[in-house]
Formats: sequence, structure tokens, C-alpha cells
Amino acid sequence: MYPTVTLDEQFPSGKFPLGVVCEYGGEYSHRMSSQSHKEKEGYSEEEYNCFRKAAECHREVRHYAQTILRPGMKYMTLATEVENAIRRIIKANKLDAGIPFPCGCSFNNCAAHFTPNPGDDKVVHKGDVIKVDFGTQFKGYLIDSAFTVAFDPVFDNLLLAAKEATMTGVKEAGIDARIDEIGEKIQETMESHEIELKGKTLKVRCVKNLEGHQIGRYKIHAGKPVPIVKGGPQEKMLEGEVYAIETFGSTGRGYVTDDVDCSHYMMSSEPRHGSVRNTRSKFLLKLIEENFSTMAFCRRWLQDMEFDKHYSALKPLVDAGAVDPYPPLCDLPGSYVAQFEHTIMLRPTCKEILSAGEDY
Ligand code: CO
Ligand code: CO
Repeated sequence: MYPTVTLDEQFPSGKFPLGVVCEYGGEYSHRMSSQSHKEKEGYSEEEYNCFRKAAECHREVRHYAQTILRPGMKYMTLATEVENAIRRIIKANKLDAGIPFPCGCSFNNCAAHFTPNPGDDKVVHKGDVIKVDFGTQFKGYLIDSAFTVAFDPVFDNLLLAAKEATMTGVKEAGIDARIDEIGEKIQETMESHEIELKGKTLKVRCVKNLEGHQIGRYKIHAGKPVPIVKGGPQEKMLEGEVYAIETFGSTGRGYVTDDVDCSHYMMSSEPRHGSVRNTRSKFLLKLIEENFSTMAFCRRWLQDMEFDKHYSALKPLVDAGAVDPYPPLCDLPGSYVAQFEHTIMLRPTCKEILSAGEDY
């Protein structure tokens, strides 16, 4: 059923449910009961609550997405239903609350950054492998979480590989955990799986140029990346950091390249306003700054704002470097990619899997 009750109505106390709490291992396990670490957390409760509100929104909306996603429906319907449900229950309001990036519905060999552009009437097929990757944010505290849906059981092992690889990443993450070692373990898990496709047995491969990432306030990709193959940076995760742990398993070569028909865009970190001369483009850039700021947006949303012929105003912004394009990222044609993703927080006393739910 379409979610209609707002989160504020559901939780009148204003306190939102915790994610799954995990004790740190080894020499860090004492943190759970340490008084000084507990006190430290007292100062961050409000921040945690914002993350938890966004996470609860994600769980409820993805549950809805899982009930409506069926062969025969348009990808456009999937994306707009998800986005409208978020807006409704989190009471979206410009930068205060809402959607930090477009609802991804990349399917089959496409791994990430596909959402339908205006006029796209592509339909979900029974043999599709669909990555539903969407975000929610409250006061800039954002949740990034994704799951994969396939209707044909032939893909079960591919989905399982990505799910287990992501859970390995979540398990290995922690205070002072080495990022390169996490990537190595993720790869081991992913590549221990095989899939039988059209009579051939294939090893599931990690997509080596896609990775998890640290999350900042209003910034989906901030700070440290978390590679999903061995050989990553010898850096450590630190107390207080928030990460999106995501992995991609592929039946292709395990490497993605840019595809055509870009839908995702984001204001450049150093927008060069001066170099944009076109009046309509200048106006659009102001609109982007007010509505999305440092968060990603898509062409559909510009059309929804009734910005007439938005592409002719957007293109000069891209050409001037004021807005960066994020084209769809795809493996070889005919291959299939699965993805799972959770947002986790390295609290002083414990690791909280913010986006965890009954589904994944
Ligand atoms: Co994501
Ligand atoms: Co992500």
C-alpha cells in the first residue's frame, strides 16, 4: 500500500527506531559498556535521531517499492512512486528533508546511475535484474541504501553473492579497520560465488571500479572511498564516521564504463558562476542551488519544476563545469550486475547499521 502516514505521525515522541547495533570486536569490545564513550554519544543523540528518521523512511518506502515492482510496469513509475512516497512521509521541504539523489533503477548490465529521463517508457521485463538504489535525508543527514530484484531464480546466486559481499563489508567495518583489508574480504566473499547462465558456469566478479564511500552532511560522496577489491588505500576508518558500504557483483568483466543518455547531475564543488553567460542557464543554476545544493538531481526533477526546455539551459552549465554529469555506468552488454548497500555509523560505543531492515 502507498505509504501515507508521515513519520512524525507514526512516531509522535519524535524518537525514531535504532538500526541494528553491533558490538565492536576484539580490543574494541569494551566500548559498549564504557562510561566515557557513552557520555560522548550523549552529545550526538540529535544527529543520530536525524539519521534514524531518514533510515525509517528508507525502510518503509523500499517495502512499498518491493510490493509494486512487477514485470510490465514502467521504470518511470517505479522511480516516481518511490520518490513521491519519500516526499510524503518525510514531509519533504527543499534542503531540510527529502531526497538526496534520484531513485536509481539501473537494470541488467547497467550497474548504477540510471533513472528514467522525461519521456522514457522502458518497461520492466521478467528477465531483468534491477538495482533499486535510493536515498533519504533529514537535515542533511543522509541514508544511501540499495537492493536488487530479479524475478527469474536463475539470478539467485548473483543476488546472494552481492548481498553476502556487502554484509562482509559491514561486518569488517569498524573503528581503526583498514580499508584495503575490507576490500580484500569483500572480494573473497563475492568471488566465492558462481552462477549458471545459459549452460555456462561463471564466477561472480566484483565490479572493480565501483566502491562504497564515506558520507558527509548533504554530501553523498565525501572523504574516503571503500573499494570492493584488494589493493585499496591503507587507510583506516575512524570513530564517528558514516559509510555507505555497497558492493556490485557482475557476470561480465567486472568493469563499468560510461553509457549514453545521462540522467544524474550534481552542482560542481566549485561552480564557476562567472563563466556562465546564458541568462536561462544562470537562472537554472540558482534554482539548482536552492533546491538541491550539493546533492544530486535528475532531468525529471527539472521538468517537474516546470523549467521549460530544461536541457538547453542545463547543457551550458555542464559545458562550463558548473554542473557535473554522472552518466549511467554499465558492464558489457548481455551481462548482469547485482548490488546491495547499507549505511553504517561508527558510534563511539558500537557500530549501528542504520538502514538495516527485515528485508536486508
Ligand atoms: Co546508493
Ligand atoms: Co552509495
